[in-house]
Amino acid sequence: MSLQLSSRDSAGPSSHDRHWRAGTVQAVPPPGAVDLGPGYLEPGLLPVDLIGEAYARTAEEFGAAALSYGENRGALPFRQAVAERTAALDGLPCGPENILVTAGSSHGLHLLGTSLARPGQQVLVERTGYDFGWAVLRDCGLALRSVATDSDGMVPAALDEALRAAAGRVAFVVLTPTFHNPTGTVMSLRRRTEVLEVAARHGVLLVEDDAYAELDLDGTGAPPSLASLAGQRGVVRLRTVSKVLGPGLRLGWMQADREITDRFAAHGLLLSGGSANHLCSLAVATLLRDNGFDRHLDWLRVRLRERRDALYEAITEELPGVVEVRLPQGGFFLWLLAEQDETSLLDKAMAAGVVVAAGSRFGRTEVPAVRVSYSFNPPSSLRAAVTRLAAAWKGTS
Ligand SMILES: Cc1ncc(COP(=O)(O)O)c(C=O)c1O
Repeated sequence: MSLQLSSRDSAGPSSHDRHWRAGTVQAVPPPGAVDLGPGYLEPGLLPVDLIGEAYARTAEEFGAAALSYGENRGALPFRQAVAERTAALDGLPCGPENILVTAGSSHGLHLLGTSLARPGQQVLVERTGYDFGWAVLRDCGLALRSVATDSDGMVPAALDEALRAAAGRVAFVVLTPTFHNPTGTVMSLRRRTEVLEVAARHGVLLVEDDAYAELDLDGTGAPPSLASLAGQRGVVRLRTVSKVLGPGLRLGWMQADREITDRFAAHGLLLSGGSANHLCSLAVATLLRDNGFDRHLDWLRVRLRERRDALYEAITEELPGVVEVRLPQGGFFLWLLAEQDETSLLDKAMAAGVVVAAGSRFGRTEVPAVRVSYSFNPPSSLRAAVTRLAAAWKGTS
Protein backbone atom coordinates (compact mmCIF):
# COMPACT_ATOMS: atom_id res chain seq x y z
CA MET A 1 0.00 0.00 0.00
CA SER A 2 1.32 3.45 -0.87
CA LEU A 3 1.06 6.49 1.34
CA GLN A 4 -1.48 9.15 0.41
CA LEU A 5 0.41 12.39 0.75
CA SER A 6 -1.73 14.96 -0.97
CA SER A 7 -3.56 16.57 1.95
CA ARG A 8 -0.83 16.19 4.57
CA ASP A 9 1.30 19.00 5.83
CA SER A 10 4.04 16.64 6.89
CA ALA A 11 5.39 13.64 5.00
CA GLY A 12 4.11 11.36 7.77
CA PRO A 13 4.38 10.45 11.45
CA SER A 14 7.94 9.15 11.17
CA SER A 15 9.14 12.49 9.83
CA HIS A 16 9.54 13.81 13.36
CA ASP A 17 12.60 15.73 14.51
CA ARG A 18 13.13 14.06 17.89
CA HIS A 19 16.67 12.98 17.01
CA TRP A 20 17.59 16.04 14.97
CA ARG A 21 20.61 16.64 17.16
CA ALA A 22 24.29 17.43 16.86
CA GLY A 23 26.13 14.14 16.73
CA THR A 24 23.39 12.60 14.59
CA VAL A 25 22.75 15.15 11.83
CA GLN A 26 25.40 17.30 10.14
CA ALA A 27 24.19 20.64 11.55
CA VAL A 28 21.50 21.97 13.87
CA PRO A 29 20.11 25.51 14.04
CA PRO A 30 21.33 27.66 16.95
CA PRO A 31 18.75 27.57 19.81
CA GLY A 32 15.91 30.06 19.28
CA ALA A 33 17.08 31.06 15.80
CA VAL A 34 15.22 30.67 12.52
CA ASP A 35 17.74 29.04 10.22
CA LEU A 36 17.49 30.21 6.61
CA GLY A 37 20.94 28.77 5.87
CA PRO A 38 20.38 25.11 4.97
CA GLY A 39 20.27 23.80 1.42
CA TYR A 40 18.13 20.83 2.42
CA LEU A 41 14.57 19.93 3.39
CA GLU A 42 13.06 20.47 6.83
CA PRO A 43 12.35 17.29 8.86
CA GLY A 44 8.59 17.34 8.17
CA LEU A 45 9.19 17.23 4.42
CA LEU A 46 11.41 14.14 4.53
CA PRO A 47 9.34 11.06 3.54
CA VAL A 48 10.57 8.61 6.17
CA ASP A 49 7.47 6.37 6.02
CA LEU A 50 7.58 6.17 2.25
CA ILE A 51 11.25 5.16 2.32
CA GLY A 52 10.64 2.67 5.14
CA GLU A 53 7.92 0.96 3.10
CA ALA A 54 10.16 0.93 0.02
CA TYR A 55 12.95 -0.79 1.96
CA ALA A 56 10.55 -3.39 3.36
CA ARG A 57 9.19 -4.16 -0.12
CA THR A 58 12.73 -4.36 -1.50
CA ALA A 59 13.80 -6.88 1.13
CA GLU A 60 10.78 -9.03 0.29
CA GLU A 61 11.20 -8.80 -3.47
CA PHE A 62 14.97 -8.98 -3.88
CA GLY A 63 15.85 -11.12 -0.86
CA ALA A 64 19.57 -11.87 -0.53
CA ALA A 65 20.39 -10.02 -3.76
CA ALA A 66 19.53 -6.80 -1.92
CA LEU A 67 22.41 -7.39 0.49
CA SER A 68 24.96 -8.52 -2.08
CA TYR A 69 27.62 -6.33 -3.72
CA GLY A 70 25.60 -4.59 -6.39
CA GLU A 71 26.46 -4.58 -10.09
CA ASN A 72 29.30 -2.01 -10.46
CA ARG A 73 27.30 0.54 -12.46
CA GLY A 74 24.32 0.17 -10.15
CA ALA A 75 21.50 -2.37 -10.17
CA LEU A 76 19.66 -2.66 -13.47
CA PRO A 77 16.14 -2.08 -12.04
CA PHE A 78 17.22 1.35 -10.83
CA ARG A 79 19.19 2.30 -13.93
CA GLN A 80 16.34 1.16 -16.13
CA ALA A 81 13.77 3.18 -14.17
CA VAL A 82 15.96 6.29 -14.21
CA ALA A 83 16.76 5.93 -17.91
CA GLU A 84 13.06 5.60 -18.80
CA ARG A 85 12.22 8.64 -16.70
CA THR A 86 15.02 10.66 -18.30
CA ALA A 87 13.97 9.65 -21.81
CA ALA A 88 10.34 10.57 -21.08
CA LEU A 89 11.09 13.93 -19.40
CA ASP A 90 13.93 15.04 -21.67
CA GLY A 91 12.85 13.51 -24.97
CA LEU A 92 16.32 11.98 -25.23
CA PRO A 93 17.19 8.39 -26.03
CA CYS A 94 18.59 7.17 -22.72
CA GLY A 95 19.27 3.58 -21.75
CA PRO A 96 20.58 1.92 -18.57
CA GLU A 97 24.07 1.95 -20.12
CA ASN A 98 23.97 5.76 -19.86
CA ILE A 99 23.41 5.68 -16.10
CA LEU A 100 25.91 5.01 -13.31
CA VAL A 101 24.85 4.99 -9.66
CA THR A 102 26.74 7.32 -7.33
CA ALA A 103 26.53 8.04 -3.63
CA GLY A 104 25.11 11.49 -4.45
CA SER A 105 26.36 14.34 -6.62
CA SER A 106 29.29 15.02 -4.29
CA HIS A 107 30.52 11.47 -4.95
CA GLY A 108 29.94 12.01 -8.68
CA LEU A 109 32.15 15.09 -8.56
CA HIS A 110 34.80 13.13 -6.71
CA LEU A 111 34.74 10.32 -9.28
CA LEU A 112 35.11 12.88 -12.05
CA GLY A 113 37.85 14.76 -10.22
CA THR A 114 39.88 11.62 -9.61
CA SER A 115 39.28 9.83 -12.94
CA LEU A 116 38.85 12.41 -15.67
CA ALA A 117 41.41 14.87 -14.33
CA ARG A 118 45.02 14.76 -13.21
CA PRO A 119 46.19 16.61 -10.10
CA GLY A 120 47.28 20.13 -11.04
CA GLN A 121 44.86 20.38 -13.97
CA GLN A 122 42.25 23.13 -13.96
CA VAL A 123 38.50 22.95 -13.53
CA LEU A 124 36.43 25.93 -14.61
CA VAL A 125 33.53 26.85 -12.34
CA GLU A 126 30.93 29.61 -12.14
CA ARG A 127 32.08 32.83 -10.49
CA THR A 128 29.15 32.44 -8.10
CA GLY A 129 28.29 28.79 -7.48
CA TYR A 130 28.07 25.77 -5.20
CA ASP A 131 31.01 26.12 -2.82
CA PHE A 132 30.99 22.63 -1.26
CA GLY A 133 31.25 21.08 -4.74
CA TRP A 134 34.36 23.20 -5.26
CA ALA A 135 35.80 21.80 -2.02
CA VAL A 136 35.42 18.25 -3.41
CA LEU A 137 37.34 19.22 -6.54
CA ARG A 138 40.07 21.07 -4.64
CA ASP A 139 40.55 17.98 -2.51
CA CYS A 140 41.23 16.05 -5.74
CA GLY A 141 44.27 18.33 -6.23
CA LEU A 142 42.61 20.40 -8.96
CA ALA A 143 43.03 24.13 -9.48
CA LEU A 144 39.72 25.97 -9.75
CA ARG A 145 39.34 28.97 -12.05
CA SER A 146 36.16 30.96 -12.05
CA VAL A 147 34.29 32.11 -15.14
CA ALA A 148 32.10 35.22 -15.14
CA THR A 149 28.36 34.75 -14.72
CA ASP A 150 25.46 37.15 -15.30
CA SER A 151 21.72 36.90 -14.74
CA ASP A 152 21.59 34.10 -17.36
CA GLY A 153 24.40 32.01 -15.85
CA MET A 154 27.90 31.33 -17.20
CA VAL A 155 28.92 33.87 -19.86
CA PRO A 156 29.95 32.09 -23.10
CA ALA A 157 32.54 34.72 -24.12
CA ALA A 158 34.15 34.46 -20.69
CA LEU A 159 34.18 30.66 -20.95
CA ASP A 160 35.79 30.90 -24.39
CA GLU A 161 38.42 33.27 -23.04
CA ALA A 162 39.19 31.09 -20.00
CA LEU A 163 39.55 27.98 -22.18
CA ARG A 164 41.82 29.82 -24.57
CA ALA A 165 43.98 31.12 -21.72
CA ALA A 166 44.24 27.65 -20.16
CA ALA A 167 45.57 26.20 -23.42
CA GLY A 168 44.41 22.61 -22.95
CA ARG A 169 44.97 22.38 -19.21
CA VAL A 170 41.24 22.30 -18.34
CA ALA A 171 39.93 18.87 -17.31
CA PHE A 172 36.26 19.93 -17.38
CA VAL A 173 33.82 22.77 -16.69
CA VAL A 174 31.21 22.54 -13.91
CA LEU A 175 27.98 24.52 -13.98
CA THR A 176 24.39 24.41 -12.73
CA PRO A 177 22.10 25.76 -15.46
CA THR A 178 18.80 24.91 -13.73
CA PHE A 179 17.53 26.35 -10.40
CA HIS A 180 21.01 27.44 -9.51
CA ASN A 181 22.52 27.31 -6.04
CA PRO A 182 22.74 30.03 -4.72
CA THR A 183 21.10 32.41 -7.22
CA GLY A 184 18.03 30.42 -8.34
CA THR A 185 18.81 31.31 -11.98
CA VAL A 186 17.57 29.19 -14.89
CA MET A 187 19.83 29.52 -17.92
CA SER A 188 17.90 30.34 -21.12
CA LEU A 189 17.83 27.95 -24.08
CA ARG A 190 19.88 30.37 -26.14
CA ARG A 191 22.60 30.62 -23.50
CA ARG A 192 22.66 26.83 -23.12
CA THR A 193 23.24 26.46 -26.84
CA GLU A 194 26.02 29.06 -26.79
CA VAL A 195 27.79 27.41 -23.84
CA LEU A 196 27.57 24.03 -25.58
CA GLU A 197 29.00 25.52 -28.76
CA VAL A 198 31.98 27.00 -26.93
CA ALA A 199 32.67 23.73 -25.09
CA ALA A 200 32.42 21.70 -28.32
CA ARG A 201 34.78 24.08 -30.12
CA HIS A 202 37.40 23.57 -27.40
CA GLY A 203 36.63 19.85 -27.04
CA VAL A 204 36.13 20.25 -23.30
CA LEU A 205 33.74 18.19 -21.16
CA LEU A 206 30.84 19.96 -19.42
CA VAL A 207 29.66 18.69 -16.04
CA GLU A 208 26.03 19.66 -15.51
CA ASP A 209 25.39 19.61 -11.77
CA ASP A 210 21.60 19.22 -11.89
CA ALA A 211 20.69 18.70 -8.23
CA TYR A 212 17.43 20.72 -8.38
CA ALA A 213 16.21 19.54 -11.80
CA GLU A 214 12.93 18.10 -10.46
CA LEU A 215 12.01 21.17 -8.44
CA ASP A 216 10.17 23.28 -11.00
CA LEU A 217 7.67 24.95 -8.67
CA ASP A 218 5.46 26.75 -11.20
CA GLY A 219 5.11 24.01 -13.78
CA THR A 220 6.49 26.36 -16.41
CA GLY A 221 9.34 23.97 -17.18
CA ALA A 222 13.03 24.75 -17.52
CA PRO A 223 14.72 24.50 -20.95
CA PRO A 224 16.10 21.05 -21.81
CA SER A 225 19.20 19.94 -19.93
CA LEU A 226 22.62 20.48 -21.49
CA ALA A 227 22.92 16.68 -21.71
CA SER A 228 19.75 16.45 -23.71
CA LEU A 229 20.64 19.38 -26.02
CA ALA A 230 24.02 17.77 -26.69
CA GLY A 231 22.48 14.35 -27.35
CA GLN A 232 24.50 13.35 -24.29
CA ARG A 233 27.88 13.79 -26.02
CA GLY A 234 30.42 15.90 -24.20
CA VAL A 235 28.23 16.37 -21.11
CA VAL A 236 28.14 14.46 -17.82
CA ARG A 237 24.97 15.24 -15.91
CA LEU A 238 24.97 14.67 -12.16
CA ARG A 239 21.66 13.90 -10.47
CA THR A 240 20.71 13.21 -6.86
CA VAL A 241 17.73 12.31 -4.70
CA SER A 242 19.08 14.53 -1.89
CA LYS A 243 16.81 17.47 -2.64
CA VAL A 244 13.60 15.49 -3.14
CA LEU A 245 13.78 12.36 -0.97
CA GLY A 246 16.55 13.22 1.49
CA PRO A 247 20.34 13.60 1.58
CA GLY A 248 20.65 10.80 4.14
CA LEU A 249 19.95 8.32 1.34
CA ARG A 250 23.28 9.23 -0.32
CA LEU A 251 21.94 8.21 -3.71
CA GLY A 252 22.56 9.86 -7.02
CA TRP A 253 23.50 8.98 -10.56
CA MET A 254 25.65 10.11 -13.41
CA GLN A 255 24.10 10.37 -16.87
CA ALA A 256 26.65 10.22 -19.65
CA ASP A 257 27.51 8.48 -22.88
CA ARG A 258 28.53 4.86 -22.69
CA GLU A 259 32.26 5.44 -23.08
CA ILE A 260 32.25 7.45 -19.88
CA THR A 261 30.00 5.15 -17.83
CA ASP A 262 32.11 2.15 -18.98
CA ARG A 263 35.19 3.89 -17.74
CA PHE A 264 33.67 4.55 -14.32
CA ALA A 265 32.27 1.02 -14.05
CA ALA A 266 35.90 -0.16 -14.11
CA HIS A 267 36.95 2.30 -11.40
CA GLY A 268 38.77 0.61 -8.51
CA LEU A 269 36.24 1.96 -6.05
CA LEU A 270 33.39 0.18 -7.82
CA LEU A 271 35.42 -2.94 -8.65
CA SER A 272 36.12 -3.24 -4.95
CA GLY A 273 32.81 -2.12 -3.46
CA GLY A 274 30.30 -2.70 -6.27
CA SER A 275 27.45 -0.23 -6.74
CA ALA A 276 27.92 2.97 -4.78
CA ASN A 277 24.59 2.48 -2.99
CA HIS A 278 23.00 -0.84 -3.87
CA LEU A 279 20.16 -1.46 -1.42
CA CYS A 280 19.02 2.14 -1.49
CA SER A 281 18.95 2.19 -5.30
CA LEU A 282 16.72 -0.91 -5.32
CA ALA A 283 14.36 0.72 -2.80
CA VAL A 284 14.14 3.94 -4.79
CA ALA A 285 13.58 1.87 -7.96
CA THR A 286 10.37 0.51 -6.39
CA LEU A 287 9.19 4.10 -5.84
CA LEU A 288 10.02 5.06 -9.40
CA ARG A 289 8.15 2.01 -10.67
CA ASP A 290 4.94 2.39 -8.65
CA ASN A 291 4.73 6.22 -8.93
CA GLY A 292 5.42 6.71 -5.22
CA PHE A 293 8.28 8.97 -6.26
CA ASP A 294 6.08 11.15 -8.47
CA ARG A 295 3.29 11.36 -5.89
CA HIS A 296 5.80 12.50 -3.30
CA LEU A 297 7.32 14.98 -5.75
CA ASP A 298 3.91 16.53 -6.54
CA TRP A 299 3.22 16.86 -2.83
CA LEU A 300 6.66 18.32 -2.15
CA ARG A 301 6.46 20.89 -4.93
CA VAL A 302 3.22 22.27 -3.46
CA ARG A 303 4.85 22.63 -0.02
CA LEU A 304 7.95 24.25 -1.48
CA ARG A 305 5.86 26.63 -3.59
CA GLU A 306 3.96 27.77 -0.47
CA ARG A 307 7.25 28.34 1.31
CA ARG A 308 8.88 30.14 -1.60
CA ASP A 309 5.87 32.44 -2.01
CA ALA A 310 5.67 33.16 1.73
CA LEU A 311 9.35 34.12 1.89
CA TYR A 312 9.33 36.12 -1.32
CA GLU A 313 6.16 38.04 -0.45
CA ALA A 314 7.39 38.82 3.07
CA ILE A 315 10.71 40.10 1.70
CA THR A 316 9.13 42.27 -0.99
CA GLU A 317 6.62 43.69 1.53
CA GLU A 318 8.95 44.22 4.47
CA LEU A 319 12.33 44.92 2.90
CA PRO A 320 11.69 47.13 -0.15
CA GLY A 321 14.69 49.30 -0.92
CA VAL A 322 16.82 47.28 1.52
CA VAL A 323 17.33 44.19 -0.60
CA GLU A 324 16.69 43.31 -4.22
CA VAL A 325 15.24 39.87 -4.91
CA ARG A 326 13.95 37.90 -7.88
CA LEU A 327 11.31 35.18 -7.70
CA PRO A 328 13.01 31.90 -8.62
CA GLN A 329 11.06 29.43 -10.71
CA GLY A 330 12.32 26.50 -8.67
CA GLY A 331 14.94 25.07 -6.34
CA PHE A 332 15.40 26.08 -2.71
CA PHE A 333 16.86 29.60 -2.63
CA LEU A 334 16.29 33.36 -2.80
CA TRP A 335 19.37 35.42 -3.53
CA LEU A 336 19.26 38.83 -1.86
CA LEU A 337 21.35 41.72 -3.17
CA ALA A 338 21.97 44.58 -0.77
CA GLU A 339 23.80 47.85 -0.32
CA GLN A 340 24.93 47.26 3.28
CA ASP A 341 28.12 45.29 3.55
CA GLU A 342 27.87 41.56 4.07
CA THR A 343 29.36 41.44 7.56
CA SER A 344 26.86 43.98 8.78
CA LEU A 345 23.96 42.03 7.19
CA LEU A 346 25.12 38.79 8.78
CA ASP A 347 25.86 40.23 12.21
CA LYS A 348 22.53 42.06 12.40
CA ALA A 349 20.64 38.98 11.22
CA MET A 350 22.36 36.80 13.80
CA ALA A 351 21.66 39.31 16.58
CA ALA A 352 17.98 39.22 15.56
CA GLY A 353 17.95 35.41 15.69
CA VAL A 354 18.03 34.62 11.99
CA VAL A 355 20.76 32.64 10.24
CA VAL A 356 21.43 33.51 6.60
CA ALA A 357 24.21 32.25 4.32
CA ALA A 358 26.96 34.73 3.40
CA GLY A 359 26.99 35.50 -0.31
CA SER A 360 30.81 35.47 -0.36
CA ARG A 361 30.72 31.76 0.53
CA PHE A 362 29.64 31.13 -3.05
CA GLY A 363 32.40 33.10 -4.76
CA ARG A 364 32.68 36.68 -5.94
CA THR A 365 29.51 38.77 -6.10
CA GLU A 366 29.01 42.19 -7.75
CA VAL A 367 27.35 43.66 -4.66
CA PRO A 368 26.91 42.35 -1.08
CA ALA A 369 24.58 39.35 -1.13
CA VAL A 370 23.08 36.70 1.13
CA ARG A 371 21.33 33.43 0.33
CA VAL A 372 18.13 32.56 2.16
CA SER A 373 16.54 29.16 1.85
CA TYR A 374 12.81 28.38 1.93
CA SER A 375 13.28 24.61 2.16
CA PHE A 376 13.99 24.32 5.86
CA ASN A 377 11.10 26.18 7.56
CA PRO A 378 7.31 26.31 7.33
CA PRO A 379 5.70 29.47 5.90
CA SER A 380 4.87 30.96 9.33
CA SER A 381 8.52 30.75 10.48
CA LEU A 382 9.73 32.20 7.18
CA ARG A 383 7.42 35.20 7.63
CA ALA A 384 8.52 35.64 11.25
CA ALA A 385 12.17 35.51 10.18
CA VAL A 386 11.62 38.30 7.64
CA THR A 387 9.93 40.49 10.27
CA ARG A 388 13.05 40.05 12.41
CA LEU A 389 15.35 40.75 9.45
CA ALA A 390 13.38 43.86 8.52
CA ALA A 391 13.74 45.28 12.02
CA ALA A 392 17.45 44.43 12.06
CA TRP A 393 18.43 45.53 8.57
CA LYS A 394 16.35 48.72 8.60
CA GLY A 395 18.08 49.60 11.86
CA THR A 396 15.00 49.71 14.12
CA SER A 397 16.14 47.00 16.52
C1 LIG B 1 24.33 22.38 -6.87
C2 LIG B 1 24.50 21.25 -5.87
N1 LIG B 1 25.18 20.15 -6.23
C3 LIG B 1 25.35 19.12 -5.39
C4 LIG B 1 24.86 19.17 -4.10
C5 LIG B 1 25.12 18.02 -3.18
O1 LIG B 1 24.42 16.90 -3.62
P1 LIG B 1 24.53 15.48 -2.90
O2 LIG B 1 23.79 15.57 -1.60
O3 LIG B 1 23.85 14.57 -3.87
O4 LIG B 1 25.95 15.16 -2.72
C6 LIG B 1 24.16 20.30 -3.67
C7 LIG B 1 23.66 20.39 -2.30
O5 LIG B 1 23.53 21.46 -1.74
C8 LIG B 1 23.98 21.36 -4.58
O6 LIG B 1 23.33 22.47 -4.23
